[in-house]
Amino acid sequence: MASPQALVGRHIVLGLSGGIACYKSAELARELVRAGASVQVVMTEAAARFVTPMTMQALSGRPVYTSPWDARPAHHMAHIDLTREADAVLVAPASADFIARLAQGRADDLLGLLCLARPIGRCPLLLAPAMNREMWAHPATQRNVAQAVADGATLLGPDAGEQACGETGDGRMLEPQALCDAMVACFQPKSLAGRRVLVTAGPTFEAIDPVRGLTNHSSGKMGFALARAAVEAGAQVTLVAGPVALPTPTGVQRIDVVSAEQMLAAVMPQASRHQVFIAAAAVADWRPAQSAPHKVKKDGRHAPPALALVENPDILATVARLPAAERPWCVGFAAETDELVRHAREKRLRKGVPLIVANLGPATFGRDDNAVVLVDAEGEHPLPPADKLTLARQLVQAIAARLPATAP
Ligand code: C5P
Repeated sequence: MASPQALVGRHIVLGLSGGIACYKSAELARELVRAGASVQVVMTEAAARFVTPMTMQALSGRPVYTSPWDARPAHHMAHIDLTREADAVLVAPASADFIARLAQGRADDLLGLLCLARPIGRCPLLLAPAMNREMWAHPATQRNVAQAVADGATLLGPDAGEQACGETGDGRMLEPQALCDAMVACFQPKSLAGRRVLVTAGPTFEAIDPVRGLTNHSSGKMGFALARAAVEAGAQVTLVAGPVALPTPTGVQRIDVVSAEQMLAAVMPQASRHQVFIAAAAVADWRPAQSAPHKVKKDGRHAPPALALVENPDILATVARLPAAERPWCVGFAAETDELVRHAREKRLRKGVPLIVANLGPATFGRDDNAVVLVDAEGEHPLPPADKLTLARQLVQAIAARLPATAP
C-alpha cells in the first residue's frame, strides 16, 4: 500500500550502474515520479548499455546525465550541482563494480563522483545491489558492502530468487515498488528508533466446524499500515495477523493466527519483549462453545443446530493487566457504529489503556481511508480523514510523543 504522493517535494538522484536489473529501474523511475518526487537520473557508461538514457529521460521527464564533463550544468560541475538540490541518492542497480569503487572513494565517473561529493550529513545514499549470487557472496563484495555501509550508505536488499543468468540465490535487486517504499520510509522521522512494537491486525475466525466459522469484515489494512509505519519510524515490529491476504510490510516479523485463542497464545509470550502494544485486530467477541470435528450436515429433517457461544479472552485487557515491569504501553481500537467518543472513553477506562483510537467500524472496514479520534486521559484529538498509511504515520508519531522516556 503506497500513500499517494508520499514523495511530493522530494528531489531524488536515481543512479544506475551496469546490470540487467537496469530494466527494472525504468519502472522504478516511474514509481518515484508517480509518488510525487522529481527524479534526476544519472547513469554509468555500463548502465547505458542495458537501458538507454532516452528511456530514462522519457520516464523521469528530465535530461539524463552520464558524464562528469557534461557542459549543461551552470558551472560545468554536474557532480556538485546534482547533489546540492537532492534529498537523497538512490543507486539502483548498484553493481559489484560500482560498490567496489564506492568503497574506495573513487571518482572516475559521474555517479561515483557525485556520491563522493554529496553533502553526507544531509543527503542519504541508498544502495540496491543487483548481481549474480556468487558475485554477491564473494568476500571482496561483502567487504566492499560493509565498507560502504560503515561510510554511511543504507543497503536495500538484495532479494533472493531467480536470476537473469539462470541461477537462483541472493543478489536480485528489490522490486521497484519495494524500493519506492524504502525511499518513502527513508524520509520518515525515526521517532521509534530502538523501540519494539507489537501489533495485532485483521479479524479472527472462530470455527463452527472444519468449513464454517464466525468472523467479521476487518481487512487488516489499518494494522498492517501501523506495522509498516512503525518500521519506517525505526522500530522493530512483530505483527500478529488474523486471516487476511495482505503482503507483509518489509522488515516486519509476522506471526499468522486464525482464532482469538491463537492470537492470545501468540501475543502473550511476546508482550513483555515489546515496549508498545497496538491492538488493531477486530477480535471476535465470542466463539462457538464447541467446534465440530466434521462438517455439520444439513439433512432437511432436523431443525438447524443451536449455536452456543462462549466469550473469547480479551487480549488487550490481558496485556494491559500485566505487572508494570512487563507491560508494554498499550493502544486499543474502538470500532463503533454510534456515539464514538463516549464509547471510546468508556472502553479506555474499562480496558485500562492510556490511548484508544476510535473509528466508525462500518465506514472503514475494507477501505483504504479512515477518520479517527484519539482518546487519551487529556481528552479527544481528532485526526483529519486520510488514507490508512498516512493516518498510521500520524498515529505512530502520536504514540511516540506519549511514550515514557524510559519505557520498560
Ligand atoms: O471490546 P472491544 O472489542 O470493543 O475492544 C476493541 C479493542 O480491544 C481493540 O483494540 C481490539 O484489538 C481489542 N480486543 C482484544 N481482544 C478481544 C476483543 C478486543 O484485544 N477479545
